[in-house]
Amino acid sequence: MNRSYKVICHMAMSIDGRAAGQYLSAAEFGPYGKAYEDMLAAYASDNWICGRITFEQHITFGNKVDLSIYSDEAISREDYIHPDAFSSYAIAVDSEGKLGWETNVIGDEYPERKGDHIVTILSESVSDRYLAYLRKIGVSYIFAGKSKPLSMTIALDKLHKHFDIETFMLVGGGFVNGSFASEGLVDEISLIIAPLVEGVSDSVSLFEFGNSPDQRIRKFKLDKFERIDPDGIRLIYLSE
Ligand SMILES: NC(=O)c1ccc[n+]([C@@H]2O[C@H](COP(=O)([O-])OP(=O)(O)OC[C@H]3O[C@@H](n4cnc5c(N)ncnc54)[C@H](OP(=O)(O)O)[C@@H]3O)[C@@H](O)[C@H]2O)c1
Repeated sequence: MNRSYKVICHMAMSIDGRAAGQYLSAAEFGPYGKAYEDMLAAYASDNWICGRITFEQHITFGNKVDLSIYSDEAISREDYIHPDAFSSYAIAVDSEGKLGWETNVIGDEYPERKGDHIVTILSESVSDRYLAYLRKIGVSYIFAGKSKPLSMTIALDKLHKHFDIETFMLVGGGFVNGSFASEGLVDEISLIIAPLVEGVSDSVSLFEFGNSPDQRIRKFKLDKFERIDPDGIRLIYLSE
């Protein structure tokens, strides 16, 4: 690894390999959801990264912003870092600027991460109005490519430089995890398997790479495993 930072991917899944589904909010998932949050907290990370869909489902709840009230004056495609000092960050991969933030920090919708400063990873093709809106509410943004798919390597290099982040916590969903893994950026996988089977076919797995013919197999070695009572398991894999 020739990088000055590392990436830990922390995820929960069902026995049937699904990372999304109704089971995540079912009572039966309770002890494993708690273990997931406790283990995430134990990393004491100053950041977490999610894809646009996960943020839309769990943080912005599909909120849409009326961009017509913002100026469409051209804004240069330079990274914008809010001048206030923050000590922790919620980082979104949102190349087209779809997320409707209401403020520049996480609030009561995720009490465990309340106060984390929102940083969004964009493509240069995002609209000027969206950039004006982000600046108005104080959300920091960086560019990681002209259009999607964005380069997660460029994104992490910039985030490391701007915020001095040394360990990134990548926490889903499947497509954003796949973006990082396909660039060889995942150094550690922390996986909680809940003893549940839901079997819905339109769910995502832990890593979704799409159908690129250039895709390589990524190999990991087992580092640790432990029981999560009553019937779950936690596995830690390290990149080889
Ligand atoms: N089990 C767990 O531990 C866990 C953890 C987190 C989330 N989840 C679940 O996972 C589900 C969502 O997963 P998901 O895979 O559908 O979505 P996701 O990974 O949350 O978001 C995917 C989106 O992120 C953007 N994106 C990701 N990589 C990109 C790249 N390289 N370049 C440009 N854009 C990129 C794209 O947004 P655009 O479509 O806007 O281009 C893409 O559609 C939710 O149901 C959530 O509850 C589970």
